[in-house]
Amino acid sequence: MTEPIQAIPAAPPKSSWLRYLRPWPASLAARTAFVLILGLVVVQTLGLGIHTLDRNDLVRLAAVRVFSFRVMSMYRDLAETPVAERQARLALIPKPKGFTVEILPNLNSLFANLMPAPPPIRHSILLNMDGFPIPPELRPQHVHFGVDPETRREYTGLEMPDGTWLVISSRLPGPGEIQGTEFLIAFVMMTLLAAALTIWAVRRLTAPVRTLAAAAEALGRDVNAPPLPEDGPSEIAAAASAFNTMAARIRRFVDDRTLLLTAIGHDLRTPITRMRLRAEFMEDDDQRAKMLRDLDEMEAMVSATIAFGRIASPNEPVSPIDLAELLRTVLDEAGDAAPEIAEHLDYDGPDHWTVRVRPQAFKRALTNLVGNAIKYGNAAHVRLIRPARPGTSLRIEIADDGPGIPPEEMERVMQPFQRLETSRNRETGGVGLGLAIARDIARAHGGDLTLANRPEGGARVILTLPT
Ligand SMILES: Nc1ncnc2c1ncn2[C@@H]1O[C@H](COP(=O)(O)OP(=O)(O)O)[C@@H](O)[C@H]1O
Ligand SMILES: [Mg+2]
Repeated sequence: MTEPIQAIPAAPPKSSWLRYLRPWPASLAARTAFVLILGLVVVQTLGLGIHTLDRNDLVRLAAVRVFSFRVMSMYRDLAETPVAERQARLALIPKPKGFTVEILPNLNSLFANLMPAPPPIRHSILLNMDGFPIPPELRPQHVHFGVDPETRREYTGLEMPDGTWLVISSRLPGPGEIQGTEFLIAFVMMTLLAAALTIWAVRRLTAPVRTLAAAAEALGRDVNAPPLPEDGPSEIAAAASAFNTMAARIRRFVDDRTLLLTAIGHDLRTPITRMRLRAEFMEDDDQRAKMLRDLDEMEAMVSATIAFGRIASPNEPVSPIDLAELLRTVLDEAGDAAPEIAEHLDYDGPDHWTVRVRPQAFKRALTNLVGNAIKYGNAAHVRLIRPARPGTSLRIEIADDGPGIPPEEMERVMQPFQRLETSRNRETGGVGLGLAIARDIARAHGGDLTLANRPEGGARVILTLPT
């Protein structure tokens, strides 16, 4: 890591309502629902459209039938009335709503302005008239039809036995006028209901995908995360089972490696002790002293390795801790150990901040970093920076007033047993495992460790931790 990371790049501002304007939604659930609902609206429109056309035909037929019968009953009523009394009778007979009835000597002036009625209407009116019970001598001799194109009124002229014309008009419903609001209400209701059902079903069906993603995320932070339930649809159960197998393999691999490390450390102790005994018998004082120093160093490395194996064990359970409190504790303990620089230790950040970590391991990582800052930089300025948005990482920055770390050495010093000073002297302690351990622990929590230098001098170690 030669490029110091100065800041977690801020996510591009994403205003929530803008997302809904995009034509193609991002999530699987939204896409599936989108396609299904779109298809549904098309099918609904077609289905209801066909149904409505059919129904309109029926309604129109019925309307024509009613119209015909009303016309005929009025006609019979007037035809049976003596000619002299017809006008009086005309004023009296009940006229259904929307009907006009008049008696004219002829049709010439009226029908001149009318269009011929469409054949289907003409035919069905005639057909219905034929079925009407009326004495044969009273039947109309001629019947004329016309439609006023502007008012859409249907005019029927019937010739009375005395040669005058009875003209009855009414407004017949035209095509596409009947469906009214029920059609729209039915359409909206059905679509809304089906859409709600679709969204519910799609969300249910895609929920396991979200669970799987969450489980993979959790595994990155904690190899001991609980296994996924292996139920649900067969594909999902198979995926969950495969995921659990993979998690178990990773767990075993990490366990084995940690165990191996500790075992090697333990086994090396015996030969080191034997060598130390043998060194005591060496003649050359100078050589013996050097040998014993080397052996001390080896012992320190072995101890550090064993300690690392123990601390970094993935078996420590994850639990919630107050990170702000932990940082202050680490600083206090460091201040107790080195009272002369206690005034150069400070904490900046929220008073309390809960995180879920493996407490011992995490404390070890922080202790290592604060220890380095004190050892190599004579100060430790600790900052806890809250996640910019929920779901992003939080940062712990540990800065000091020392010489910093040359950028080209940053990656190397994080490797095990790598130090800037070539000698592992007692003065500055360590064997070169501190940063390696801290990075290992950060990564085991799904975070990372990066090194940088402060512009005003001194190193800045940044530990990120996903929340
Ligand atoms: N804050 C720091 N300022 C300068 N150098 C540092 C700092 N932290 C670590 N280093 C360098 O990185 C090396 C590795 O650190 P570390 O892994 O903690 O091992 P150790 O502290 O045991 O030497 C250190 O030896 C030191 O040279
Ligand atoms: Mg160290």
